Amino acid sequence: MTDGRGVLTRTSFRLPFLLLGGLGLLAGLDAALALLGLPHVLVGARLADVHGPLMVLGFVGTVIGLERSVALGRAWGYVAPALNGLGVLATVSVLPDTVGAGLIVAGQLGGLLVYRPLFARQPAVAVAVQTLGQLMAVAAAALWLGGVPVPGLMPWLVGYLVLTILGERLELARLGALSPRDATTAQGIAVAVLLAAVVSLLAPDAGFTLLGAALLAAALWLAVKDVARHTVRSTGLPRFIAVCLLAGYVWLGVAGAVWFLGGQVEGRAYDAAAHALFLGFVISMVMAHAPVIMPAVLRRPLPYRRAFLVPAGLLHITLAFRLAVGDARDLEWAVQAGGVGNIVSVLLFVAVAIWSTLTARTTTTAPPAPSSSSTRGQESGSRRDGEGRGGEEPGSRREGGPSRERAPRRDERVSTSYGASS
Ligand code: HEM
Repeated sequence: MTDGRGVLTRTSFRLPFLLLGGLGLLAGLDAALALLGLPHVLVGARLADVHGPLMVLGFVGTVIGLERSVALGRAWGYVAPALNGLGVLATVSVLPDTVGAGLIVAGQLGGLLVYRPLFARQPAVAVAVQTLGQLMAVAAAALWLGGVPVPGLMPWLVGYLVLTILGERLELARLGALSPRDATTAQGIAVAVLLAAVVSLLAPDAGFTLLGAALLAAALWLAVKDVARHTVRSTGLPRFIAVCLLAGYVWLGVAGAVWFLGGQVEGRAYDAAAHALFLGFVISMVMAHAPVIMPAVLRRPLPYRRAFLVPAGLLHITLAFRLAVGDARDLEWAVQAGGVGNIVSVLLFVAVAIWSTLTARTTTTAPPAPSSSSTRGQESGSRRDGEGRGGEEPGSRREGGPSRERAPRRDERVSTSYGASS
């Protein structure tokens, strides 16, 4: 017999949330074609207008919300990704814009509530930084609902994802030799990002310059402190993750440099900064973490295959082309070609992931959600073969519900998002 909590762990329960996020991705990509001035499938001008919020708050927001709810392991936590996912659905439907935006505000607020017990469980800088990021998501969604144009939302959208990822990496970096000073620096960077967003509402140029400086600092911190610098020398999955992470940090630095030097940039520089950040940094992070997080969320193996290198490589090559040839020289055709390449790389990654899951060696038990320790193992290259078995080996993750409110053991403290409850 399955109790209520058993339902929460079912793939069939969790998959619909992911599908709603996926709908946001597909609609966002379609809207991207419209923005590039290329033939597109469904959307009119309206959806093109919401490409940014749909991608950041709709697609990535729903996936992050789902993963946080899995980490929390309580039924109420799933209300957040549910509202967010319904917001995606409403945004792509014929309903008034405010319905979708309103649902997404509610979903992001729910996401903020989820951090309360997560922080109680693990009162660490890493979770505090992620909570700040979530606060920025709530602000972004509320400003969007209030009718603020997307360029004005940019620092909030950027802050949401950068702080969520910084907190995530901070957790894993703690496993290495992070000093309290390193953690304080990361916290300072997070506060600077939030401050920059506030300043941008009053003095846009100053706010974006400050944002650029904070992003440059974040890129430097991550490049120097992240375990990826060491794990890049390993093989298989850990190496793949490290390469994606390090490439992402370079793009984070590029976005920071554009805003730092140009303030609130427009035109091609706007496209360049936004996509260095959202495609080069964020989507590269998504690709890096998918083989680790997806098995935790869906309880299905997602083995790492060398084929993952193809979409990851394509993403960076086509993005470099879009920015260096298209945006830098104001060549429409090059922006379009690079943009189409970006879209193909994202879709190809999804296709490889589905293929990898469907062809994975089946096991009698669902794969465990990776704990921080198993994630750490995968990232640190402790597995002898990083390829072909990702997500199939037993992990040491926590199980259970309310009892998880107990103080975590030292070895559990590094785990919020990765320590998802299965
Ligand atoms: C996958 C391929 C993608 C393509 C081809 C694409 C294309 C575009 C284009 C052409 C613009 C308009 C730029 C301008 O006004 O100069 C744009 C804006 C934007 N994109 Fe993307 N994009 C992609 C992916 C993403 C992703 C993954 C995200 C976020 C996770 C994202 C977030 C944004 C944002 C926030 C804006 C600003 C929207 C606005 O000002 O209304 N994009 N995108």
